[in-house]
Amino acid sequence: MYPDLAGKTVVITGAATGIGQAIALRFGQEKANVVINYHSNHDGVEETIAKIKEAGGQAIDVQGDMSNEEDAQRIVQTAHDTFGSMDIMINNAGMENEVPSHELSLDDWNKVINVNLTGAFLGSREALRYMLKHQIKGNIINMSSVHEIIPWPHFVHYTASKGGVKMMTQTLAMEYAPHGIRVNGIAPGAINTPINAEKFEDPEKKEAVTKLIPMGYIGEPEEIAAVAVWLASSEASYVTGITLFADGGMTKYPSFQGGNG
Ligand code: NAI
Ligand code: BGC
Repeated sequence: MYPDLAGKTVVITGAATGIGQAIALRFGQEKANVVINYHSNHDGVEETIAKIKEAGGQAIDVQGDMSNEEDAQRIVQTAHDTFGSMDIMINNAGMENEVPSHELSLDDWNKVINVNLTGAFLGSREALRYMLKHQIKGNIINMSSVHEIIPWPHFVHYTASKGGVKMMTQTLAMEYAPHGIRVNGIAPGAINTPINAEKFEDPEKKEAVTKLIPMGYIGEPEEIAAVAVWLASSEASYVTGITLFADGGMTKYPSFQGGNG
């Protein structure tokens, strides 16, 4: 438990499902005020809110498209209007689709860049404006991926977006460190969430992914939420500009396992 998170207000984007939902619940268990942003699918949000309240936190939901400037502004404003503050911003919303790069349409490229990179920028910018205005030494967490460093054929828009998130995180961390605002990233490996649902329904594909993970299993969203609360807490007070990899070792050249090479 991180007692300093109790009563803090956290905005989590794309939090109806998967990693965002687990983060929302975990902050609720830390007794934070949780603002759950969802996009098109509201399923599960009421249940998350109920669980957060049961755990002693507060929670509201706000619809909004994070790639839309007005929506990003309204989401931060709603946090302020409801809870009187906004201390932690978690830019988690993301999407991907598999297409060979030479067949990728401009429309698909733009969609992924707009949500994963521009959305994280808009969330970060609104959070920074708010924190500067109210002199809040808050922090921002951007959900990156192991694909901020691992190339991934057929997902060039996704890897480009996460590579962008990496440099955005480092630049904002440097720029706002003098204000006491920390900016960090989390890079999950393969996690059991809706983004992977179709792939993991196929036992062969699931096995192929599992072979890329030295720890030998697909991660659970709660294992990412555990990292998020630590990074957001005062326990990580001197940590800024990092990407924390929570990937079961996926980025450690798994094909060298057993001494190959
Ligand atoms: P997910 O598909 O359950 O979550 C993504 C969420 O983002 C969904 O709830 C979706 O509705 C929301 N979203 C999409 N477009 C949006 C928009 N324009 N505005 C607001 N929300 C929007 O999948 P997951 O895995 O929970 O993904 C969360 C983040 O974690 C993403 O950024 C993803 O790239 C990242 N990630 C996931 C990994 C995995 O293996 N599951 C590994 C590495 C990174
Ligand atoms: C992607 C997942 C993928 C994982 C490991 C994540 O960024 O969203 O679909 O399984 O990286 O490759």
